[in-house]
Amino acid sequence: MAILIRGGTVVDANRTYRADVLCHGNDAGGTIAAIGEALDAPAGATVVDAGGQYVMPGGIDPHTHMELPFMGTRASDDFFTGTAAGLAGGTTSIIDFVIPSPKQPLMGAFREWRGWAEKAASDYGFHVAVTWWDQSVHDDMGTLVHEHGVSSFKHFMAYKNAIMADDEILVKSFARSLELGALPTVHAENGELVFQLQKEMLARGFTGPEAHPLSRPPQVEAEAANRAIRIAQVLGVPVYIVHVSAKEALDAIVRGRSEGHRVFGEVLAGHLVIDESVYRDPDWTRAAAHVMSPPFRTQEHRDALWNGLQAGQLHTTATDHCVFCASQKAMGRDDFTRIPNGCGGVEDRMAILWHHGVNAGRLTPNEFVRVTSTNAAQIFNLYPRKGAVEVGADADIVVWDPQASRTISVKTHHQNVDFNVFEGMTVQGVATHTLARGELAWANGDLRAQRGAGRYLKRPPNAAYFDAVRVANHRREAKPVERKAEV
Ligand code: URP
Ligand code: ZN
Ligand code: ZN
Repeated sequence: MAILIRGGTVVDANRTYRADVLCHGNDAGGTIAAIGEALDAPAGATVVDAGGQYVMPGGIDPHTHMELPFMGTRASDDFFTGTAAGLAGGTTSIIDFVIPSPKQPLMGAFREWRGWAEKAASDYGFHVAVTWWDQSVHDDMGTLVHEHGVSSFKHFMAYKNAIMADDEILVKSFARSLELGALPTVHAENGELVFQLQKEMLARGFTGPEAHPLSRPPQVEAEAANRAIRIAQVLGVPVYIVHVSAKEALDAIVRGRSEGHRVFGEVLAGHLVIDESVYRDPDWTRAAAHVMSPPFRTQEHRDALWNGLQAGQLHTTATDHCVFCASQKAMGRDDFTRIPNGCGGVEDRMAILWHHGVNAGRLTPNEFVRVTSTNAAQIFNLYPRKGAVEVGADADIVVWDPQASRTISVKTHHQNVDFNVFEGMTVQGVATHTLARGELAWANGDLRAQRGAGRYLKRPPNAAYFDAVRVANHRREAKPVERKAEV
């Protein structure tokens, strides 16, 4: 059934204007049918009154880990509960990560994740992690790009003895990504340094969560970000740095970009607003609930991240949504290195960015749309099907009341976890309605997310980025010097 969003102000990445938006229901394609003034409601259409509200592209969270098997347990939000929570907060698509165990074939892991994700309530795509290397990995990367629409690969530079990619893997996988026109992405932390610093902290008697940030200082992130960027630069491939949390890592991105290299940066809602002192909370369970990597940092870093977002040096906002309940975090009661790493936020990212970004004067509403939706759609090649309010685009829309406020709490959130890292934060700016492919999935507090309604998003390679890089890459055209044989 059609939905007419009436009387609102459309905000996309470039423009703000008054218009009604008519959407086809999912049965008729779930796309935007018309945008204009005073549109008539077709017979039987549902009318959403958007008076005084903004009508924006639904959020895209390009970094989530639903039901991830990790550190001896499994993330407690599955693809249904996690995407449903996202819809309640205005996020209509996620890009999650397939993470093969070392030696697990990439295609096998991909099929496994595809199966789990069939219950998703919103649309979803996948990045696939390269955690080991042999000819089959090289070949599977090609199959994933050419046959399955996976056009980004993930590399964990941390998590030694588990999923860490060393320099050899980075170089081989980045080079293969370049061949395929796929975008390499990295979790930038020097895994060897983390491993040694963790051992040092344990040896000095630190067993609690306060040791987590001490074992992962900003320089550990900066070194890895810089290394990944330099490797990508030498090979001539664009690179995307996930969850940038440290000023020094941002500096590496700015440096690379200023040298003409195509580097993208992602920042998490949590890294923008949460302080490192959470790890010194006298309550072990609360402190452990914040254990994620990279860790939350000091105000100096948060200021730099906001500046980077404002300046366009950081391009996307995400959550790294990867939640574990207190009983799971307790696995690390006596050893902080065993606390499952991960925090939530898929439901709250949009509100955090609006409240602390737009309301604080750091972002315009159009910039908000760019960093919560359009840039991710463009970088990961979903645009303009996603990330735009345009005729023909998917009707993934959030109706946003900039006057309404709510207080974030575990008591009211829809995420399947017993903690919320934004607990008690009052935010002004609320998703009143969320449309997913032309269906109302959230309406004035009523969550109508449907299990299995989400579809898999194929993302072809983004040729434009690669053409731009190739032009600048003289090394490939160089020829060996022909020398006369010595007598
Ligand atoms: O602590 C985190 N971030 N857990 C999820 C896995 C990752 O590193 O992205
Ligand atoms: Zn990570
Ligand atoms: Zn992650």
